[in-house]
Amino acid sequence: MPPTVETRSGVGCFVTFEGGEGSGKTTQIARLAARLRGRGFDVVETREPGGTPGADALRQIILSGAAESLGNEMEAILFAAARLDHLTSLILPALDRDAIVLCDRFHDSTRAYQGSSDGADAEFLQSLEDATLEMRGPDLTLLLDVPAEIGLHRAAVRRSGRAVDRFEKEDLAIHERRRQAFLEIAHQEPDRCVVIDATGNAEAIEAAVEAAFRSRLPRWADAGGAVERRREA
Ligand code: TYD
Repeated sequence: MPPTVETRSGVGCFVTFEGGEGSGKTTQIARLAARLRGRGFDVVETREPGGTPGADALRQIILSGAAESLGNEMEAILFAAARLDHLTSLILPALDRDAIVLCDRFHDSTRAYQGSSDGADAEFLQSLEDATLEMRGPDLTLLLDVPAEIGLHRAAVRRSGRAVDRFEKEDLAIHERRRQAFLEIAHQEPDRCVVIDATGNAEAIEAAVEAAFRSRLPRWADAGGAVERRREA
């Protein structure tokens, strides 16, 4: 059985945010990070693909569409390579110094984007995931769920003139399939995942994120908990 956050005393906590385009992950990560910093925690905000110079270089290649013609498997390999660098160079060192890491997308995005419908072979993706996440996976995943139509509309407003990237350009049905893939992951892994209704305004989503964080990671919910946890370590 993989270790849980409760069995890993003395190390930080790793939270991923997942969801489709325009689900509000970036806004919610910034809000949660500000709140946790206010409670005295060391918080690292990061994102995928990216987070390190090596992974950011791969991000450019992937999102420009340069690797699209190589196929789903090759794109999945690039995401996995970026993830491994991100994990070993940034996430694990932050967890080792007791930080809270908030990451915008992680392995569930590979499952939902590269794996859904006629995507990469499931066994192939699983072996990549096993190799990449051998050292550590997320303690908590918050899935910001919004119908693809609403999410794409929000993303278009936010983009205001910027060209769509490799994944944003795909049609509504594909985005909706990815949404269903995320929901299926949350259904299969209820101990790790919490589905948050992300159709409301930012304040309502923020309250739901805070409630999920407090209920799933109570030892990290307030500064008092941090002091107690350090005493135990
Ligand atoms: P980004 O601009 O960071 O999008 P968003 O604001 O929606 O998070 O672009 C990341 C894109 O890469 C996004 O469309 C999802 C896609 N992606 C994958 O296809 N697989 C992955 O493993 C990851 C991490 C992202």
